[in-house]
Amino acid sequence: MTQALDSETDLLERRREFPTLSKKVHLISHSLGAMPRAAYDALREYGDLWVDRSIEAWRDWLPLVTASADEIGRIIGAPAGTVMMHQNVSAWMGIIASCLDFTPRRDRVVYTDLNFPSVHYVWKEHERLGANVHLVRSDDGIEVDTQKFIDAIDERTAAVVIELVLFRSGTIQDAKAIAKAAHAKGALAIVDAYQAVGTVPMDVVDMDVDFLTGGSVKWLCGGPGAAYCYVRRDLISKLEPRLCGWFSHEEPFAFEMSRVRYRRDAGRFMGGTPSIPALYASSAGRRCVRELGVERIRRKSIRQVGKLAAMAEEAGLEVRSPRDPQRRGGMLCLEFPGSEPAHEELLRRGYMLDWRPGSGIRVSPHFYTTDGELEALLDEIRKIRRT
Ligand SMILES: Cc1ncc(COP(=O)(O)O)c(C=O)c1O
Repeated sequence: MTQALDSETDLLERRREFPTLSKKVHLISHSLGAMPRAAYDALREYGDLWVDRSIEAWRDWLPLVTASADEIGRIIGAPAGTVMMHQNVSAWMGIIASCLDFTPRRDRVVYTDLNFPSVHYVWKEHERLGANVHLVRSDDGIEVDTQKFIDAIDERTAAVVIELVLFRSGTIQDAKAIAKAAHAKGALAIVDAYQAVGTVPMDVVDMDVDFLTGGSVKWLCGGPGAAYCYVRRDLISKLEPRLCGWFSHEEPFAFEMSRVRYRRDAGRFMGGTPSIPALYASSAGRRCVRELGVERIRRKSIRQVGKLAAMAEEAGLEVRSPRDPQRRGGMLCLEFPGSEPAHEELLRRGYMLDWRPGSGIRVSPHFYTTDGELEALLDEIRKIRRT
């Protein structure tokens, strides 16, 4: 145990780089990662370039799109040139859907009823274009049996959407096994890894998925607006997104009025003008996670989420996340009668966390969280429950 704590020392030293941590107990990295101080500097640099260099600022701004994408690639094990940036995961789902033709023989889109609703809304609205959404139901609101998920995939399935870590419970799904089953039936495997990237290590090539998307707001401490998507290298040239734009074109500055001539790399998914301020704001968090290494973040997370689960059970709270530490992501859900008003009181007392129907209070230690903060949270919950 002492050894484990020793190896966490430099993770905790990073606390100094996150000013919000001295103001609040930040246990909400599954929703909003803490802001690195360096994000201020990056945004100032963005503004200074705009002022000082005017239109010439694009010479610095544009390369940041691929630089950000490649840095994400290093975190998720994706080869250079296979990742692209966009504003959010919902937009990415729309772009992916715009690559598909839903025919009566290949119209099904399969995922679980625990997936994030924004992603569901995108696919559900594609029913107007011939898609046919099939939801695999969870029995307990915490997880979905992998075999049940696999059994729902058939020859009519066009795409399978796997939420790697479920936002409702923190359950890790077996994306590799589900992707293999999708491929066996000729379907695409799309992973929503928003709740995983930055806290659960992954290698997209080994996972053998077709797409993996996520965003900057949560575990990557990047603020809103810098979502990303990996596309399997050999698939890129076969896909022609209807949702495209001039930067998807091989020669955007040729201003041709023909059909788009798609770029050969993941740039074909770029669309219109990129969100440059978000790329600046998100750079520090991304860099911090990559420097620390997600393997090390995960080791600390497993220990602290386990500690939190043990303390919660001792305090008589229901843990609405898997019991097996290997099947849990970085977040733990705690339920008890009165959990919704209790979470509001916790916010008032400076504990940053949230509450979701069916999940209870969602709590997330990250690399910057101390054990003392977790102990203080449990004490506070005990006090609130006694009043
Ligand atoms: C698993 C998951 N997917 C997607 C989202 C959000 O998607 P978007 O980037 O479209 O807001 C969230 C949370 O906000 C999430 O937890």
